Amino acid sequence: MHSILLLNAKGGCGKTTLATNIAAYYALQGKRVVLADFDPQASSMDWLGARPADRPRIRGLAAWQNTIRVPKKTDYLIIDSPAAVSGKPLATLVKQADSILIPILPSPIDIRAAEHFIGHLNALRRVMNKKVKLATVANRVRENTLAAGDLDNYLETVKLPSGKKVPYLALLRASQNYIRAAESGLSIFEFAPAKTLPDREHWERIFRWLDSKRSRPAA
Ligand SMILES: Nc1ncnc2c1ncn2[C@@H]1O[C@H](COP(=O)(O)OP(=O)(O)OP(=O)(O)O)[C@@H](O)[C@H]1O
Ligand SMILES: [Mg+2]
Repeated sequence: MHSILLLNAKGGCGKTTLATNIAAYYALQGKRVVLADFDPQASSMDWLGARPADRPRIRGLAAWQNTIRVPKKTDYLIIDSPAAVSGKPLATLVKQADSILIPILPSPIDIRAAEHFIGHLNALRRVMNKKVKLATVANRVRENTLAAGDLDNYLETVKLPSGKKVPYLALLRASQNYIRAAESGLSIFEFAPAKTLPDREHWERIFRWLDSKRSRPAA
């Protein structure tokens, strides 16, 4: 099983958007996918509730309510996490992950918050010991804006405790497609390809990393 955690203490940066789109992408490939929602706001569970019955099935776990019991034959466990997570709850979430994707928005406040947050992550033993792999994703980007350039520059400099670069996987554009997908229980991968082509192109690098050994701790 590959366990993928969407994580960033900053609210509204795209954790649920990435979690739901990744879950649907693998479900469309015929994989057995569990979406565990650790956020009492329940956005991922609401999305699943809106998901049409004829779409590839994703099993939901309201993980903020109970300790989670992941079915044995799960291929992908996608974990959506709440904002403002720190301390022990942060370490507990990180413990359950092979790969962590950190979405970050293009704004000075979000960039500064990400610097602090990645500092906290890098202080965790599991991160130091490479038992979990990190990567960043720029989200909701309007290309050719100053803020987008600043985020791009920052993400090129983010380092692991070892001094190695944290992979900066992709820049997801600000697009109504994500908002439409969120309200209808769908992913951008379930819309007409012509409408979502520019979005899908950016996702290719995310899935290339997730599907490679680089996103998993060494056995
Ligand atoms: N690339 C994007 N383009 C347009 N809208 C987006 C994009 N990514 C996210 N959004 C929208 O931004 C809002 C916040 O995104 P989302 O809920 O995924 O963030 P979050 O990190 O899960 O927030 P929270 O911390 O509250 O759980 C949502 O309305 C979502 O539809
Ligand atoms: Mg969320």
